[in-house]
Amino acid sequence: MKLNKIEFLVMNSPIRRFFQKNIDFKIFKKYLKKYNIDLTGKVILDAGCGSGYSSKIILEEFKPSKLYAFDFMPEQIKLAKKLNLREVNFFVGDITKIPLPPSTFDGVFVIGVLHHVPEWKRSLYEVSRVLKKGGVLLIEELSGSFVNFFNRLGFTHPKEARFEWSDFVNGMEKAGFKILEERKIFFEGIKSFICIKL
Ligand SMILES: C[S@@+](CC[C@H](N)C(=O)[O-])C[C@H]1O[C@@H](n2cnc3c(N)ncnc32)[C@H](O)[C@@H]1O
Repeated sequence: MKLNKIEFLVMNSPIRRFFQKNIDFKIFKKYLKKYNIDLTGKVILDAGCGSGYSSKIILEEFKPSKLYAFDFMPEQIKLAKKLNLREVNFFVGDITKIPLPPSTFDGVFVIGVLHHVPEWKRSLYEVSRVLKKGGVLLIEELSGSFVNFFNRLGFTHPKEARFEWSDFVNGMEKAGFKILEERKIFFEGIKSFICIKL
């Protein structure tokens, strides 16, 4: 589902970028170090990449051999392409139907995407499908209660995508992931996870 105007502005603001670089990715890097997973030279996907800032960080921090990044909103991909990251293959795409072959990636990042997607469970199966066996999923999400709070501030999200953590964890496990670790980010309503595809 597309972001409304308020969220589009917030998500593409310097404040969000500051937090993404200094909090979200610091946690992802700690996870990878702790579990001895090296993404250097690997094939990586940034699913729901927004305007491409996360892809830029992935490129700088992990130096993948190939980086694919897609988003549902053509407006976001237009902005991402303006970053002039020639190494990144940016395209418009839908996480419920990823237009790529199975077992393509060593690592997939899904950052704040699934609470926008009514078919979030199906999306987890899609992410699992395109990951190689033993590949790593780094995912950050918002719980349904936290999304309700944001909706009071003028954001809009589909009702079907308001999951609580037990349901989300269940969805990941059913899609074939083993959760190695999860951490809350400031609030119980925002969590990031590192998972391995079994
Ligand atoms: C909150 S933003 C996060 C963007 C980026 N991952 C980040 O962390 O800055 C959520 C993004 O998910 C995208 N999105 C929503 N539904 C999607 C879908 N079905 N497939 C792919 N992307 C989707 C939105 O267009 C939006 O750019």
